[in-house]
Amino acid sequence: MKIKDALIEGREFLKNLEYTDPTFETRRILTELLNKDLYYLIAHDEEELEKSVEEKYFNILIKRQCGIPLQYIFGKEDFYGRTFTVLENVLIPRQDTEISVEVILKLNKKNNIKNMLEIGCGTGIVSITVDLESEEKIDITSVDISPFAIKNSNINKKNLKSNIKILKSNLFEKINEKFDLIYSNPPYIKSSEIENLQIEVRNHEPRLALDGGSDGLYFYRKIIKQSQNYLNKNGFLVFEIGHDEAEDISSLMRKNFKVEIFKDLNNLDRVVVGQLKV
Ligand SMILES: C[S@@+](CC[C@H](N)C(=O)[O-])C[C@H]1O[C@@H](n2cnc3c(N)ncnc32)[C@H](O)[C@@H]1O
Repeated sequence: MKIKDALIEGREFLKNLEYTDPTFETRRILTELLNKDLYYLIAHDEEELEKSVEEKYFNILIKRQCGIPLQYIFGKEDFYGRTFTVLENVLIPRQDTEISVEVILKLNKKNNIKNMLEIGCGTGIVSITVDLESEEKIDITSVDISPFAIKNSNINKKNLKSNIKILKSNLFEKINEKFDLIYSNPPYIKSSEIENLQIEVRNHEPRLALDGGSDGLYFYRKIIKQSQNYLNKNGFLVFEIGHDEAEDISSLMRKNFKVEIFKDLNNLDRVVVGQLKV
């Protein structure tokens, strides 16, 4: 089959699915399988695909029809200019999370942050990126309760030559030191809203990474309360948040923290920073 026919047929496979852009995806899959860029596909659209490539291509399209995210099929996703391995059962990195990295890097530089704890590291994108992007050395400890996330973070740590320390821990359970900065992007979807998420997320991403309890704030409450025992004087607590949660989370923090809210590129509230008042 020619490249151009594979693209046309592929679009038919995906055309009625709510969660994908068939033109983008068919091109993305073929460029990945051929290890070529988009210009190659366009310039060589009369080229015959090898049988094995054609088979792989249609097998992937069948998986996509079932809603399996492309990141799990290819086992990777780009974040902040690097490619991270993504295992099934671990949350797929979101581009919105890059704003968390930006905020942390600025805070670290301005406040001479020496060490940092991440709660719920998933694939390890935030800790590893902060580690690799920091000019000054920072000791970073990253924890997650999920064994899949621990395995995934360790793979990325090794591949990207990072020095973070990774621990399996239920929140602060295995932590016995204090930090200048604690970061978390905890599960924050309201339990009742999980059934309304698109099928790719609802059926394929881990509930453990999504479910934030009845009001979405379960983990924020716990972390805000416990973090005060694990923060140094005037230390920072940084959260990635759901776009409609800034007010609730800020009010939970204001008694003990000086609070600031940062927006993402879509102008939605995305990161809350609290600095301990004592
Ligand atoms: C929304 S995901 C964030 C993952 C990663 N930081 C990112 O931004 O891609 C939340 C993470 O918290 C972890 N988690 C859930 N409950 C936890 C707990 N009690 N203790 C530690 N980690 C937990 C999940 O396994 C998941 O990896």
